[in-house]
Amino acid sequence: MLFSRVQLSVFVFSLFLLLGAIQIPLHASSQHDWDATANLSPGYEAADNWDISVPPSVNATGNLIFETINSLMQHWPNTRYRNGHTIVPALVRPGNVFYHGRSDSNTPTTPEWLATDPEHSLIFCRDLNTDSGCWMLTVTVVRPLKLLYFDGSSAAKMRDGSMDSQDILAYGAVIPEKYRDEKERINTLCEWAKGLNVDGFVRMEMDFEIMLCDFAKGVEVAAVNLRKSIRARPGRPDQPRPPPESYPPYDDSEHRPHSNDRHNSSTPDSPVGDAFITGSWHNYFPGDTRIQLDLTQLISFYDTQLVPSLVEERFGKERIEHRLLGISPQDVLAVVNRINASIADSYFGSGVDWATLIQLIVKRFSGRLEMVQYILNSTTPADSASENENLAKKVHSHLAAMVQPYMLATVKPSDEDASAEWFTPVYKLCSTIYTDYIATSAIHSHLSTSEQLVLGGVEQTTREICRVVTGMWVDGVMNGLDQDLYKPSTIEDKDGKINALIGSWRERINFLMKWLDWSVWLKCRPECGFEEICYLPTWPFRVRENNDSKRDPQPKCIPRM
Ligand SMILES: *[C@@H]1O[C@H](CO)[C@@H](O)[C@H](O)[C@H]1NC(C)=O
Ligand SMILES: *[C@@H]1O[C@H](CO)[C@@H](O)[C@H](O)[C@H]1NC(C)=O
Ligand SMILES: *[C@@H]1O[C@H](CO)[C@@H](O)[C@H](O)[C@H]1NC(C)=O
Ligand SMILES: *[C@@H]1O[C@H](CO)[C@@H](O)[C@H](O)[C@H]1NC(C)=O
Ligand SMILES: *[C@@H]1O[C@H](CO)[C@@H](O)[C@H](O)[C@H]1NC(C)=O
Repeated sequence: MLFSRVQLSVFVFSLFLLLGAIQIPLHASSQHDWDATANLSPGYEAADNWDISVPPSVNATGNLIFETINSLMQHWPNTRYRNGHTIVPALVRPGNVFYHGRSDSNTPTTPEWLATDPEHSLIFCRDLNTDSGCWMLTVTVVRPLKLLYFDGSSAAKMRDGSMDSQDILAYGAVIPEKYRDEKERINTLCEWAKGLNVDGFVRMEMDFEIMLCDFAKGVEVAAVNLRKSIRARPGRPDQPRPPPESYPPYDDSEHRPHSNDRHNSSTPDSPVGDAFITGSWHNYFPGDTRIQLDLTQLISFYDTQLVPSLVEERFGKERIEHRLLGISPQDVLAVVNRINASIADSYFGSGVDWATLIQLIVKRFSGRLEMVQYILNSTTPADSASENENLAKKVHSHLAAMVQPYMLATVKPSDEDASAEWFTPVYKLCSTIYTDYIATSAIHSHLSTSEQLVLGGVEQTTREICRVVTGMWVDGVMNGLDQDLYKPSTIEDKDGKINALIGSWRERINFLMKWLDWSVWLKCRPECGFEEICYLPTWPFRVRENNDSKRDPQPKCIPRM
């Protein structure tokens, strides 16, 4: 007899896992799919049998909610994904200073834009007629300012979705033709804000900016007469220098500056280049913390309960193409109602620190997942059997490190029956350890509607990581890579099995990382040198309307000096 009963069942079981794994990247739909329109907690404990072969629904958005919230007020991820899906009430504390460049020393009497960093305002600091220098207003916050933040590249004048969430508030519908009507947009938004307790809005382009509705409220304004920026001055014999090929050219035709001014510069050391550098200072977590977000009141267009009409619009599309066009009028009304209510609300939520929780999960898994992917990337079919086995052992040790904190002492495959259940406690503990208290204790009843959405995103995301990682680890165990736990007496065609395991592992890790799509993984490889910066193509550089705007931008090193 070739196989004992036990060996046979182990073999069949491994085969099942491999097949299950290979299926995942194809279409993950099954009658057991999680219900994308329901939050996971608190009901999911009861309804759920923790079947490790069941992936999230194709329409589930927990991963998108998790990553968009993890990216708020950070320049890098919002440069990549330009079409915002989140609106968040925000606060700026007294003492913060912002900047407004112009050609005279007057304080605006209509809504205008503030730069968060002075370099951005210098683009507009000019006096076209005289040699008396140019004007920069410093705008100091003297009482808490209440703002609404639109995530994404919400100040990029692009036709394909970066303005959608503003349109919803300004016009009650997405109106793509208005993508350049900046003056009308700020006036309409500020008109909308008038009846509410809102001082302005926060957006992002080459840097973050504030649309301030009323310069007479909550701020103190002073005018500073600056030396005219020589580098910004058009038409000097030594300007503009032709940009080096690798540097993003400034696409002047696409950029309508905020008011009546037009700027004209294309060199790396121009004010535009400088604003791009200061924007990059806010690239990563926690981003620009002068704008303090109230996550307990956010709304997300990835919320499938609040905005069900977009589920179909997004279906089958890459994230880069997601936008709000196609949202139903009922959903617009629901969103505006929620925003109106949240502005009026003085409830401060449950006290859970969501940003830190999300960041913790990213820290815990991002480096290790990337390492596993890196090792698996380094194999080729031509590698020898012993090379492959060493590599499989290496991968397995990283997987084991990831599941170690959830490895209960009682968890062990039984020699008699390697059933599919022995590892369920690992999968379950890994999936629930970070949120169990929030999801099941009395605190759950104190969560705001927004917090319940965030919790669902954390739960779905953590669970999918744990499902894939535990599944990969189990396959390593069943192939004898974890001798303490399980030692098959003989393995038929061991080399073939290790090869198949490596192939299945590679597919699964790639699928998981694509699903998570964390911006921490989007970086220049190899890293840039000191004289370079890692650059992600963005409007108005190299991203022209109607052309590059659907493309997923990829970073590359460009000269910094
Ligand atoms: C929200 O508030 C604005 C400003 O007060 C008001 O014009 C609008 O009708 C409100 N919208 C809803 C849906 O309540
Ligand atoms: C921008 O600079 C170019 C090159 O110096 C010049 O030909 C063009 O007229 C300038 N445009 C404006 C709007 O100043
Ligand atoms: C996902 O959404 C699409 C579009 O609404 C729908 O046709 C499909 O049945 C949904 N799939 C699942 C598994 O919910
Ligand atoms: C592994 O390969 C994939 C596909 O080519 C690539 O996208 C990814 O960046 C690589 N990962 C690592 C860590 O090298
Ligand atoms: C995008 O623009 C480039 C340069 O102007 C042009 O060569 C290319 O054909 C355009 N692509 C599309 C899809 O329009």
